[in-house]
Amino acid sequence: MIRVVAFDAYGTLLDFNSAAAGCADALGDKTALVSELWRRKQLEYTWLRSLMDRHADFRRVTADALDFALEAAGIADRTVAPRMLALYDRLAPYPHAAETLATCRGMGLATCVLSNGTPDMLTAGLSSAGLAEGLDAVLSIESVGVYKPRQNVYRLVCDRFDTIPPEVAFVSANGWDVAGAAAFGFRVAWINRAGAPLERLPAGPAATLDSLAGLTDVIARWRDED
Ligand code: LAC
Repeated sequence: MIRVVAFDAYGTLLDFNSAAAGCADALGDKTALVSELWRRKQLEYTWLRSLMDRHADFRRVTADALDFALEAAGIADRTVAPRMLALYDRLAPYPHAAETLATCRGMGLATCVLSNGTPDMLTAGLSSAGLAEGLDAVLSIESVGVYKPRQNVYRLVCDRFDTIPPEVAFVSANGWDVAGAAAFGFRVAWINRAGAPLERLPAGPAATLDSLAGLTDVIARWRDED
């Protein structure tokens, strides 16, 4: 029986592309490139630091990745990075995010975020996107000090809600996070907005959607199947 719905934050509820888009005046035709490279490096650094046992929090990793991306794209304007990092705390929500949280709650399910973000990044971002009031808990990997998809990070949801993995529906737009959560035993919905191929990893989604619309129907079906 599903009792809890846990959401990834960046890329799933919060649109990280909105930070680069907000600096399009300075990034010009490199806007999409910088955004993509920033995100890719940010994730790589989380995985590499975890493998290296050299944890640094997501604010630091995000700034380091942006530094790399701007240099790689040949953006010399030193005022851009602080502007983009400030915008990262005020990312736009994806369509249907607030109503999805409200519908989950209306179904009697607990809601939470489980994210690589630091507690203060998540508080700022989820509040400014108008999503904080729809969440029963905001869980950060900082309490474990290692990044997703390390398996004990997903356990934070079970510990917080005193539940077991099959009672958790996990929602992520990141294929590798989907695999990590599914390997842990969550029932996972993949929000595959980009139409990406399935990751060749040991576990996969129980449902795939192209947006958050329709997610609560899927979760209702899972709940009724049990
Ligand atoms: C997060 C990243 C993975 O919010 O998007 O954890």
